[in-house]
Amino acid sequence: MSAGFVQAAYIVAALLFIMSLAGLSKHETAKAGCWYGIVGMAIALVATIFGPETQGHWWIVIAMVIGAVLGIQRALKVEMTEMPELVAILHSFVGLAAVLVGFNSYFAPHGVMDSVMQNIHDVEVFLGIFIGAVTFTGSIVAFGKLRGIINSKALSLPHRHKLNLAAVVVSVLLMFTFVGDASLFPLILMTIIALAFGWHLVASIGGADMPVVVSMLNSYSGWAAAAAGFMLNNDLLIVTGALVGSSGAILSYIMCKAMNRSFISVIAGGFGNDVQASSDEEQGEHRETNAEEVAELLKNASSVIITPGYGMAVAQAQYPVAEITQKLRDKGINVRFGIHPVAGRLPGHMNVLLAEAKVPYDVVLEMDEINEDFPDTDVVLVIGANDTVNPAALDDPNSPIAGMPVLEVWKAQNVIVFKRSMAVGYAGVQNPLFFKDNTQMLFGDAKERVDDILKAL
Ligand code: TAP
Repeated sequence: MSAGFVQAAYIVAALLFIMSLAGLSKHETAKAGCWYGIVGMAIALVATIFGPETQGHWWIVIAMVIGAVLGIQRALKVEMTEMPELVAILHSFVGLAAVLVGFNSYFAPHGVMDSVMQNIHDVEVFLGIFIGAVTFTGSIVAFGKLRGIINSKALSLPHRHKLNLAAVVVSVLLMFTFVGDASLFPLILMTIIALAFGWHLVASIGGADMPVVVSMLNSYSGWAAAAAGFMLNNDLLIVTGALVGSSGAILSYIMCKAMNRSFISVIAGGFGNDVQASSDEEQGEHRETNAEEVAELLKNASSVIITPGYGMAVAQAQYPVAEITQKLRDKGINVRFGIHPVAGRLPGHMNVLLAEAKVPYDVVLEMDEINEDFPDTDVVLVIGANDTVNPAALDDPNSPIAGMPVLEVWKAQNVIVFKRSMAVGYAGVQNPLFFKDNTQMLFGDAKERVDDILKAL
């Protein structure tokens, strides 16, 4: 394959990657987005492996076949709830690859360079290894915490922020030493520091906050790939790395904003530790209801909004929820879903579950699209959601979730909350919604209760 052909293939692949990201941002186009990505990656791989700069293609093909068999086997087995840990371990591979590419670039003989080019090359090698090493150990800790192999509690070493800062400052100083004489010692010392830094950075974040961290590591893995692209002089790897790096950063930002956390505190590590300070006291009397009464309420409603949360995922209640939706819509009742950006435990968690259960896309709305409609709604079904529908976020400036945007379900005529007990949600705060006059609690496993309502309907 000629060099010109490879460049042309790279441009096509880069366009497909951009179309893939655009496609993945909407339900209707998400599947097409996946395909654009797959085709783009296939073109990129064929062009790279059979391009003029690659030797020993067949060894690479054999390695890829082995990797593909292992990958397909794992991907077929993985449960939806294990997805974040799969993503985390895959990021660790990207980090490790960047470290190996970096050392390879350092040791591989390259032609004589003028001093400016040599310095640029040294910086690329240094940064590539640094980002790769941080991503590698950070992702392993994230994987371990999500899997439960590593204690999910946030590690809180004394002076941990100073330790992080020292790691960065020492690494910067080492970079200046390395760029001057390209000796191996500063490179190895920085690699050890970066491995420890990545480990500590993620270890100091609580297990339940791992989805944000995984998305952040996703971003790091993109920058590690981009750095590898510079070292290997591969334009497509630079473009792809930058796309992954920036989209991961944007996603982390969106998640932080939706949880009212600061992006900086996530990057600095140790966020989410203030949760213990919250209160879980009950705030008055709550009213209970049963499935038959809820079915009656639904039959007489003209508009219904369902706001699902983590509990719907735990109970796997999405299938009967989809059936109820269909039944009510057949009766001419306007049923829609309101999805909070961080409902559940990973971005798009609810959307994936509802799509799985074949709920039509056009009735699944984002929080911002539906929040104004609650006052005109007869019944809201809060299925296994808690923090994302907590009025204290808006009313109580001292609440740990103060300022977090929430679904304003309490403005509807009737609110039915599905949960198993009066226990608090993820943020550990009690929810005043449960004690409002227009709220009734439907206790029990969400799937069983929704099944009961379905029967009663
Ligand atoms: P949560 O606040 O965690 O509340 C889930 C509720 O579901 C709980 O109140 C629980 O009450 C109930 N539940 C659990 N299992 C159930 C079952 N089998 N049947 C019925 N109810 C069940 O969930 P949310 O409203 O979805 O909020 C998500 C939280 O996670 C937010 O605080 C968010 O900041 C955080 N978070 C989200 C993400 C992303 S990206 N989604 C990332 C990091 C953190 P019982 O135990 O009484 O049943």
